[in-house]
Amino acid sequence: MSSSAIEPSVSAPYGRKNPFTSFIKVRRSLTLPGSAKDTQHLELDLLGSGLEYTPGDSLGVFPRNTASLVRETLQEIGFSPEVSVKLPQGTEVSLESALLRQYALNRANRKILHGVRDRLPEGAPKEEIVGILADEARTADFLFTRDYVDVLRQFPAARFESPEAFLSMLSPIQPRLYSIASSPAAHPGEVHLCVAVVRYENHGRRRTGLCSGFLADGASVGTREVPIYVQESPKFFLPSDPTRDIIMVGPGTGIAPFRAFLEERAASGAAGRNWLFFGEQHQATDFLYAEDFAGFLRSGILTRMDLAFSRDQAQKIYVQNRLLENATEVWRWIQAGAYFYVCGDARHMAKDVHAALLRIVEEQGGKSADEARAYVEETLMKTERRYLRDVY
Ligand SMILES: Cc1cc2nc3c(=O)[nH]c(=O)nc-3n(C[C@H](O)[C@H](O)[C@H](O)COP(=O)(O)OP(=O)(O)OC[C@H]3O[C@@H](n4cnc5c(N)ncnc54)[C@H](O)[C@@H]3O)c2cc1C
Ligand SMILES: NC(=O)c1ccc[n+]([C@@H]2O[C@H](COP(=O)([O-])OP(=O)(O)OC[C@H]3O[C@@H](n4cnc5c(N)ncnc54)[C@H](OP(=O)(O)O)[C@@H]3O)[C@@H](O)[C@H]2O)c1
Repeated sequence: MSSSAIEPSVSAPYGRKNPFTSFIKVRRSLTLPGSAKDTQHLELDLLGSGLEYTPGDSLGVFPRNTASLVRETLQEIGFSPEVSVKLPQGTEVSLESALLRQYALNRANRKILHGVRDRLPEGAPKEEIVGILADEARTADFLFTRDYVDVLRQFPAARFESPEAFLSMLSPIQPRLYSIASSPAAHPGEVHLCVAVVRYENHGRRRTGLCSGFLADGASVGTREVPIYVQESPKFFLPSDPTRDIIMVGPGTGIAPFRAFLEERAASGAAGRNWLFFGEQHQATDFLYAEDFAGFLRSGILTRMDLAFSRDQAQKIYVQNRLLENATEVWRWIQAGAYFYVCGDARHMAKDVHAALLRIVEEQGGKSADEARAYVEETLMKTERRYLRDVY
């Protein structure tokens, strides 16, 4: 694997305001053909960056739009890609470059609707957009499935007087965070990620998530073109006492930090026991990092692994079902001082796992509902800080 000829400048410290331009050393699919998901393992280069991380930290990535979406957007606005535009920070770049790197193009924002309305002559299209803007739910619905190409195609009579007038409507690209999936002790000079690629189709066109699409399709392996920074996670860390046991609940990409934790505990020779709960849709196609975890089991670093493949049987089985099936043992570990970690989907999974933990404490600990809540939400979460979550 060769990196591009451009070497990083030595102008550390790198951070969100001054990201390090890295390159992808390795990209491979973690899901197999037949899966409903596309989840990718990525290894990024850190050599020469001075960047350091601790398992539990996240990596910030600044994406860029796909060249094809930039092309389509340029076609709709009708300006030359080469025309020079001034960015808000004062630098001059080509319109094409501004559209590629500065502004998010994969989702339209509210501002463009106002901009289009103001540029439409009186008539039915203008009335339509006024109607959309008058109703917040309709606006959100409309924007949920559309990018700028969709909006401009739907209202072709709206013409922007200059490239700058159009750019002033757009939202700047924001970086995305990814839980780091590696330990620096196991992979010096590298950082690994586990990324679920957002792919869907709307209004007859295929869409990808801005950053997951950039990491999966846009960035080339070996080309230094991925701006990154380390985002420390002061609330998600391994126990400082290596003899403490840990319970890790990480379905889907929630597995990422736990691969890092296990690599770190193996490298440091931590004596505490490690118990993993993982879940995905199908064992045959979605068992992310199956080989790594088989290795951790063989070496004894992983004490136990309980799996919940939700769609391999008629009834859904989730990680919280596995926790409840093992309630006595989970409670024993917690009483013995184990840390309890949850990573992954915030909207449903983390809430349901929280409810399962409350139930375990209530039933196994012989506590009332209020006592269990106080124990989980005060003692474990705040006083002892051993119920830690990295959810998104
Ligand atoms: C602390 C933290 C850690 C994280 N760790 C990870 C990780 O380890 N791995 C990981 O994969 N992600 C992780 N994420 C999520 C990640 O940051 C991004 O949010 C994710 O990759 C999506 O970003 P994107 O730019 O690809 O998609 P975006 O361009 O932001 O688009 C995503 C949006 O697309 C929309 N969308 C999805 N499907 C449809 C549809 N059918 N129709 C219309 N709209 C749709 C959804 O509204 C969604 O919000 C983490 C987030 C945080 C905050
Ligand atoms: N916007 C989107 O289109 C989209 C799509 C996928 C993921 N995401 C988000 O991306 C992140 C990671 O996604 P991912 O693909 O790695 O994994 P994920 O969607 O979290 O799925 C991983 C596993 O968790 C299961 N699951 C679903 N609901 C659950 C619940 N309430 N409790 C416990 N387990 C549950 C899933 O089962 P089932 O799938 O069988 O229910 C699957 O087996 C999450 O934040 C997720 O919300 C977004």
